[in-house]
Amino acid sequence: MEPDQESLVRIRNLSKTFPGDVKALKGISLDVRQGEFFTLLGPSGSGKSTLLKILAGLETPDSGEVIIAGKDMTRVPPYRRNTSLIFQEYALFPHMTAEENVEYGLKVRGIGSEERRRRVDEMFRFVNLDGKQKRRVWELSGGERQRVAIARSMVIAPEVLLLDEVLNTLDEKLRKEMQIELRRFQHELKKTFIFVTHSQEEALTMSDRIGVVNFGVLEPRPTPWRSWPESKSSSSCRTNASNSVPPRVKWRIDSPER
Ligand SMILES: Nc1ncnc2c1ncn2[C@@H]1O[C@H](COP(=O)(O)OP(=O)(O)OP(=O)(O)O)[C@@H](O)[C@H]1O
Ligand SMILES: [Mg+2]
Repeated sequence: MEPDQESLVRIRNLSKTFPGDVKALKGISLDVRQGEFFTLLGPSGSGKSTLLKILAGLETPDSGEVIIAGKDMTRVPPYRRNTSLIFQEYALFPHMTAEENVEYGLKVRGIGSEERRRRVDEMFRFVNLDGKQKRRVWELSGGERQRVAIARSMVIAPEVLLLDEVLNTLDEKLRKEMQIELRRFQHELKKTFIFVTHSQEEALTMSDRIGVVNFGVLEPRPTPWRSWPESKSSSSCRTNASNSVPPRVKWRIDSPER
């Protein structure tokens, strides 16, 4: 990995303690590059979602900084950031149709109706849901709902897309298909993706680089998958990924210079 490629997201020394002295993050620093598919891998409770929420502006850290595209975003509200978070549990608006869900972010940003129509239709084609625009949320399958959630986040063209265990609810076949789709989206959009999973197989299949989070700390070198501790809460951690390690996976995260 070339040393001085541009870092789009610079995370410096982030700490977050929740009431009850729960230390969710204990001084995490990380650089993520423009156009990179970066995966945060870690067991349940290790602080992955907390880190994504801080990147999206939904949580404020106790200390540390988030710099995006050279600007200090640590205390900037979510709607002023060029990030979009797709939640662990897809949170579509249940009373809206699929297309109203996707259109929503453009509406609140004051985009005109013609432009909205064009971008929404483009997104439906992109996620292979063309023709299902008028469906109500409950008339969609789990996989289709997840794709609507992805379309809704992507339509506003954020610089950084934050994806929190977005494939967890899908069955194995759909999950594999969506892994390929997501990677294709990312490749075509040339956006930066920060993807969270506790499945090492998923991390290995999808990522340019992987950072391993454990007990609120980013490990300086990722643990090889063989010695990755099995999480009781995660059957996917037991998946044997030995045959699916693509050559692009680099077993090192560069510790950011300061
Ligand atoms: N709003 C909150 N208030 C109190 N504690 C919280 C809050 N959010 C997270 N925590 C705690 O912080 C720790 C890290 O939580 P986080 O959601 O970041 O973990 P995670 O790595 O995303 O886990 P999972 O894989 O289960 O989603 C946990 O102990 C959790 O209970
Ligand atoms: Mg989580």
